[in-house]
This record gives sequence, C-alpha cells and structure tokens, in this order.
Amino acid sequence: MKRTLFTPDHEMFRDQFKKFLEREALPHYLRRENYEKIRQNLDALAVFEGDVLDALERYRSRRFDGFNLSDIFEYMTMDDYLAALGRIIGSATPGARLVYWNMLVDRKAPACIHHHLAPLETEASSLFSSDRAFFYKSLVIERVQ
Ligand SMILES: C[S@@+](CC[C@H](N)C(=O)[O-])C[C@H]1O[C@@H](n2cnc3c(N)ncnc32)[C@H](O)[C@@H]1O
Repeated sequence: MKRTLFTPDHEMFRDQFKKFLEREALPHYLRRENYEKIRQNLDALAVFEGDVLDALERYRSRRFDGFNLSDIFEYMTMDDYLAALGRIIGSATPGARLVYWNMLVDRKAPACIHHHLAPLETEASSLFSSDRAFFYKSLVIERVQ
C-alpha cells in the first residue's frame, strides 16, 4: 500500500539522513566499503558470545594486542574490576591497549598498577572530544607495560 503520510520533502530528508548515517555513524565493520575486505578475512575472525574473562580462558594460548571493553566495568565492584584488569593484563601482549568508557562510575587503573598498565590520557581525551556517544562521562585508554 502506498504511504500518503510523507511528502517528497520528507522522503528527501529521510534519504539524506540515511546517507548521513551510512557515512558518519556506522562502525567500520558495518560500512559498505569494508564488506569485501572483512569477507575475505572471515577465517581470522572469531565471535565469542559471553563474559570477556571466559573468552580469555577459551583462548588462553593466545595473547591479545587490543581490548575494546565498551563500559563493562560499570556494574562491577572495585575488587571485581581490579581482578578483571589483572586477567586482561595477563592475556595481553606488551604494548596492548585497553579502551573503555565510564558512564556513572569512575574506573581507571589506579596509580599503584601504572607500572603494569599506563594511562594514555592525552590520546583518550582527544578521542573523547570527538565521541558521538554523548552519555559517557569519560574514555579511558591504557597501555600494557
Ligand atoms: C552499563 S552496560 C553497557 C552496555 C553497552 N556497552 C551500552 O553502552 O549500551 C554494561 C555491560 O557490560 C556487560 N558486562 C559486564 N561484565 C562483563 C564481562 N565480564 N564480560 C563481558 N561483558 C560484561 C553487561 O552485560 C552489560 O551489557
């Protein structure tokens, strides 16, 4: 059934907005121009659904050089957060980076473990200033030493 609700102006706006989202808002893995490249390298991709610590256990023979942790520490106690950091550091290569957001609670490696995990504050605040996810309080980037 043909919709009569939208005028040509509405349709033009919807089309422009869709193009804007495709161009500006999609993560790299969902962008059309990256489709073939990802497809050609599917054998290098493993999808694990579950707790990050279980994933580290599953792939314990491997070392990782990057961790995008979203804001998974938000609901963790400080003790659980520090225990998780320990496990993550233990599965990381030297120089690996952890990236995560804070929303309501402040989570960042305490100074006493900076010899294991060093903050990259300048880089984090620079990236945070162009972050489009408006509801986060801060972005944390830390490098495994
Ligand atoms: C505050 S929510 C944020 C969800 C999402 N990042 C967002 O911004 O909408 C925290 C999320 O971390 C996940 N989470 C907590 N502990 C985790 C863990 N050990 N491994 C993986 N995910 C975890 C929870 O399931 C929850 O979805």
